[in-house]
Amino acid sequence: MEYILYEQKGAIATITINREKALNALNSTVLDELNATLDAVDLDTVRALIITGAGEKSFVAGADIGEMSTLTKAEGEAFGKKGNDVFRKIETFPIPVIAAVNGFALGGGCEISMSCDIRICTDNAVFGQPEVGLGITPGFGGTQRLARLVGAGMAKQLIYTARNIKAPEAYRIGLVNDVISATLDEAGNVTATAKQNLIAAAEKMASTIAKNAPIAVRNCKKAINEGLDASMDEAIVIEEKLFGDCFETEDQKYGMAFFLDKNKEKVKEPFKNK
Ligand code: CAA
Repeated sequence: MEYILYEQKGAIATITINREKALNALNSTVLDELNATLDAVDLDTVRALIITGAGEKSFVAGADIGEMSTLTKAEGEAFGKKGNDVFRKIETFPIPVIAAVNGFALGGGCEISMSCDIRICTDNAVFGQPEVGLGITPGFGGTQRLARLVGAGMAKQLIYTARNIKAPEAYRIGLVNDVISATLDEAGNVTATAKQNLIAAAEKMASTIAKNAPIAVRNCKKAINEGLDASMDEAIVIEEKLFGDCFETEDQKYGMAFFLDKNKEKVKEPFKNK
């Protein structure tokens, strides 16, 4: 692959968008490679996925403006569909996906982070939907997911003004779950960069998720995602079905038997995904 790095460590996999010279901007090739990489994730062994960008400066600085600059209406729509299809694949990916946002997350960069389940970022991160300043709308889900995440009023303000916001504001409005800084020694020297700490934090969160019963975690993702698109009456039925689906699994039997076993010296075994 030209622009995507993929690494699996135990039950955690990391996708790195690796087009640092263009601040990891998303052209058609990046989107195609990302799509193929997602299809190749081994869902029997991977229990949580991290998406990040190469380098310390930018997560993803948006869709590729050079590529978009000459598109016709029909080509623009097709480019929007290409991005939307991949981002929807991330959103509905069977396992949790964490966006580790290492810097600029603008336009398509903010949008890919919003298609992930959880966002954490470095303290130099900048979020925004600058599209109206370029003469277009957000086109990879931004008009839909930003409103769902931070509310319609705040989303409209950010999108209409094309104002970029820094990490603390993104945290305050609930766009990111956590902001990670560098570690300094007593003399003020950097001993771990914000990006290094971000990846460590994302991996720690992914490992915590990976230790829990995988079928239950997947069903939680499905229940939350599908429930948000339904009425409450429909949503609780979605939950009931996915709750019921966990019973009779080996992991449910083991997890409950372990709790009920009064021998507290016993060490909990890893869940089997069965
Ligand atoms: N597309 C194509 N190339 C991009 C890019 C993008 N979105 N963002 C950055 N680059 C390229 C620059 O052209 C530059 O390339 P060269 O070295 O060949 O000139 C390189 O990355 C470095 O960028 P800058 O020199 O601009 O770096 P900077 O530090 O001065 O500025 C920045 C950083 C503020 C992020 C600035 O690059 C920028 O504003 N980028 C565009 C952000 C943007 O508008 N994103 C939204 C795109 S539209 C979209 O995403 C639509 C959608 O919803 C689908």
